[in-house]
Amino acid sequence: MSPLVGDGVTLRRWAAGDASELARAWADPLVQAGCAVPVDRSSHDARRWISGQQHRADQAQSVDLVVEVRGRVAGEVGLGPFDHQRRAAVLGFWVGPDFRERGVASHGVGLFTNWAFEELGLAAILAQTTAMNRGSTAVLAKCGFAQLATQVGATQTWVVRSDAPRPLDPESPKN
Ligand SMILES: CC(C)(COP(=O)(O)OP(=O)(O)OC[C@H]1O[C@@H](n2cnc3c(N)ncnc32)[C@H](O)[C@@H]1OP(=O)(O)O)[C@@H](O)C(=O)NCCC(=O)NCCS
Repeated sequence: MSPLVGDGVTLRRWAAGDASELARAWADPLVQAGCAVPVDRSSHDARRWISGQQHRADQAQSVDLVVEVRGRVAGEVGLGPFDHQRRAAVLGFWVGPDFRERGVASHGVGLFTNWAFEELGLAAILAQTTAMNRGSTAVLAKCGFAQLATQVGATQTWVVRSDAPRPLDPESPKN
């Protein structure tokens, strides 16, 4: 796929040269708390994980993109697993410590979900988080997700459907 360009962020495939940045993110305690990260998290493991992205996309298992800001790896947005029968997928995202609280996740998730609805034919995208993860719930709400009424323990499930009104750019003054 060609890179997706939004307001201040670019979404692109992972490249082999990103491995050390990915390993650094996997080592971050907040990323570990909020996302499913691999057990093996060295730069070597990250390089191997990156080399498997085409296979995972071909198998329709997952799609993971770098959120790039000014040429640097600022974060990641990803979808997977997919429920092909229901045309649904689970969203995950993180932003590295150097880039937080500047709208990077809001821009990246907004751009990514719009692309996923248009290009992947999804009917719904789900995300799981907790009320304690204030950044995550704020990003989801800004990108048009709504929390499902049922909450299992501390885990909240949020959903956005393809026919729901979504801001094109969550931070743009035009929206
Ligand atoms: C959650 C996370 C992705 C937010 O990324 P971010 O780029 O800082 O988010 P944004 O800058 O787009 O913030 C969106 C809103 O949330 C607020 N926010 C961000 N982090 C916050 C925090 N820790 N506490 C309270 N509010 C927070 C921002 O101020 C902003 O509010 P505003 O719209 O009123 O200005 C980032 O903290 C992270 O990577 N956390 C670890 C991984 C994770 O939990 N991922 C989510 C999995 S569902």
